[in-house]
Amino acid sequence: MKILIVGSGGREHVIAWKCAQSPKVEKIYCAPGNAGIAQIAEIVPLKADQYEELACFAKEHEIDLTIIGMDDPLVGGIVDVFEAHSLRVFGPRKNAAILEGSKAFSKDLMKKYNIPTAAYETFTEKEKAIDYLKSSASFPVVLKASGLALGKGVLICETLEEALEGTEQIMGIKKFGAAGDEMVIEEFMTGREVSVLTFVDGTHIKEMASAQDHKRAGDGDTGLNTGGMGNFSPSPFYTEQVQAFCREKIFQPTVDAMKAEGREFRGVIFFGLMLTQDGPKVLEYNCRFGDPEAQVVLPRMENDLIDVMEACIDGTLDQIDLKFSKDACVCVVLASDGYPAAYEKGKEIRGLEKFDDSDRHFCFHAGTALKDGKIVTSGGRVLGITALGRDLKDARASAYEAVGWVDFDNKYFRHDIAKAIDEV
Ligand code: AMP
Ligand code: GLY
Repeated sequence: MKILIVGSGGREHVIAWKCAQSPKVEKIYCAPGNAGIAQIAEIVPLKADQYEELACFAKEHEIDLTIIGMDDPLVGGIVDVFEAHSLRVFGPRKNAAILEGSKAFSKDLMKKYNIPTAAYETFTEKEKAIDYLKSSASFPVVLKASGLALGKGVLICETLEEALEGTEQIMGIKKFGAAGDEMVIEEFMTGREVSVLTFVDGTHIKEMASAQDHKRAGDGDTGLNTGGMGNFSPSPFYTEQVQAFCREKIFQPTVDAMKAEGREFRGVIFFGLMLTQDGPKVLEYNCRFGDPEAQVVLPRMENDLIDVMEACIDGTLDQIDLKFSKDACVCVVLASDGYPAAYEKGKEIRGLEKFDDSDRHFCFHAGTALKDGKIVTSGGRVLGITALGRDLKDARASAYEAVGWVDFDNKYFRHDIAKAIDEV
């Protein structure tokens, strides 16, 4: 098979790496890719928002399966464009990707189908949001730009003053662009966060492993929200009891709700959950693999990824026995100092060859590029240093050991990825 992957992050690198292990796969293309992906795939100089051009490329090169990694093209309807060209493609159509593309939609869906989530109100007018905050909100309160905002459109406000300032940022000056045309005001929840990635074929749902993200930039969960600074899998807090509850009250009900709405979901649903005192509740849905959740989940997966993705497209996921190794996996993101605000790019990366000798350590590229024959930094999140281990402690020690193998001038990382496991 010839495979085309759309995206350019660490997530797309691990997807390409996993595809490369399939005996069915003969050639992988990736658009637009990065310097790490270029080592296993042929780079296609098209951007993820060039839907028609990408579909034409897939036709011309007789691509058997296209995998969309990123949220933006999914929410924008790239799958519909590929299907209109009779191409096989993995990911939800536009009418289902709205599960991530509009937080207002997903909150209304959860309310309608009794799926546990935080209480909320949605607003399209700034004045009405302000009135609500002044009259009815309790603090802290959570403000969310409804649309896509690179994981940064969520503000937790301790006081009315902060909430009014946040409303001005989201709905007034439109800091997150059109994502702030609509805003969700949500009850603040406390508890431990767990991410669960699942495969969905429109009707059936199969869970991959659980993971825990580290969204803040700094040690001890301080600083700005990022796309994710590291991850570990499995989460020891996702117990069998929690899992049973989520299956019955959250996972299958979400798939059924989408089907009942005429929005059959085929692809990956990423459930962002909070384990509150009143039980697990949905924080958010994503319509694709997480980044870096994919980096800790796919190395543990024993199935051929192509088989599973084809089953999602064909509606035969119930026939797949999804299997994960007992190994734990930890990913530490190496970022450019200053991310997610301002940072420098173009720094040479040294030491990458050290990963060639191990099949338990992986260096998934996110923001890297080739310049004059050298691999240089080209983004905020640069590399996902990932290691498998017998258990979480072993995987963490291995991942941090490998963090020391690579160097670039403004290398920055969190020192406490997977520290939570010490509390178990
Ligand atoms: P989201 O993109 O909706 O997952 O939000 C990003 C992060 O903000 C989450 O991972 C949580 O840490 C935090 N968050 C979102 N919603 C809430 C909430 N209702 N209560 C507390 N924290 C929240
Ligand atoms: N790491 C969180 C996300 O991919 O949305």
